[in-house]
Amino acid sequence: MSDHSDQLEALVADVRARAAELRDVDAIDALKTEVLGRKGGRLSHVMAGLAKIPKDEKAEFGRRANDAKREIEEALDRARQRVAGASLDEALSHRYDVTFPAIPPHTGGLHLLRHTLDAVVDFFRSRGFAILTGPEVEDEYHAFETLNIPADHPARDNMDTFYLPRGGLLRPHTSPMQIRAMLAHPPPIAVLAPGKVFRRDALDASHSFMFHQIEGLHVDRGITFGHLKGFATDLCRHLFGAARRTRFRPSYFQFTEPSAEVDVSCHACDGAGCRTCKGSGWLEMGGSGMVHPNVLRAAGYDPEAFTGWAWGLGLDRIAMLRHRIDDIRTFFENDLGFLEQFG
Ligand code: DAH
Repeated sequence: MSDHSDQLEALVADVRARAAELRDVDAIDALKTEVLGRKGGRLSHVMAGLAKIPKDEKAEFGRRANDAKREIEEALDRARQRVAGASLDEALSHRYDVTFPAIPPHTGGLHLLRHTLDAVVDFFRSRGFAILTGPEVEDEYHAFETLNIPADHPARDNMDTFYLPRGGLLRPHTSPMQIRAMLAHPPPIAVLAPGKVFRRDALDASHSFMFHQIEGLHVDRGITFGHLKGFATDLCRHLFGAARRTRFRPSYFQFTEPSAEVDVSCHACDGAGCRTCKGSGWLEMGGSGMVHPNVLRAAGYDPEAFTGWAWGLGLDRIAMLRHRIDDIRTFFENDLGFLEQFG
């Protein structure tokens, strides 16, 4: 008995000593097989001597053998944990310096046109306007017909519209959204409809075949030109500073009567005349006017009961003026060096 117990103790001591030296999982597995392997393992070898042990000592020996097996497994587990911890420390110490200051991730930013649009949208949302978007591929009915521009009217040519080969067109202005909004909602209505528009224009510093407009429409009982002037004046102050003045120049659009161009006093020279305003002291924001009765009628509104103002402001132009950018092409070239200045 004592002989066999000594063998067990020696085996445990040997495993403990060797396991403490091992440096990788494969070696630990190999030691496990060597000691605990079912066939030819050293523990099973010692156990084979069980047959020779006197009967009354067998139970005691069995207990010791179980203890030895548990102690061996514990020694192997400790070795495994030590090796796993060491390999993590190793990985961290060689590949990563966790104390090194982090490089902030590149999160991107909003495009300058989006910033500008947000400034306009914030202003109108706070005044109860709904924001709408609509199709860039339009039909003549919404783009012209219902806006009081009948077929064969020369105004259709002035728009330089892209017609699509299978019918339809790329909208040359956001004004069709007036019709779509009024067809979808009974009066009163107050909406802002920003979006892309397309024209057959040659590309240069101030023209692009694609640019952005912000259509505004406010129809209710008793809306007057005074409301239009009020909103335009407040918006220009919001966008360009409290000292800005607005000016309304008589103009002509088929879908408004009367019609006016909205100008804002130049923020660069305060109206004295400079490069930004090409010497005039004023900057053009877009077209506007009182919604033509024919347009209200086409949308199912009663022009005897309701009146409204509408405008189509140039978003790209507003962004150019606010940030002193003199070439519209810079918005669409996706030069990050340029865009990141405003992100
Ligand atoms: N749709 C016109 C254009 O693109 C701009 C415009 C003028 C819009 C007067 C309006 C308006 O809503 O009332 O040239």
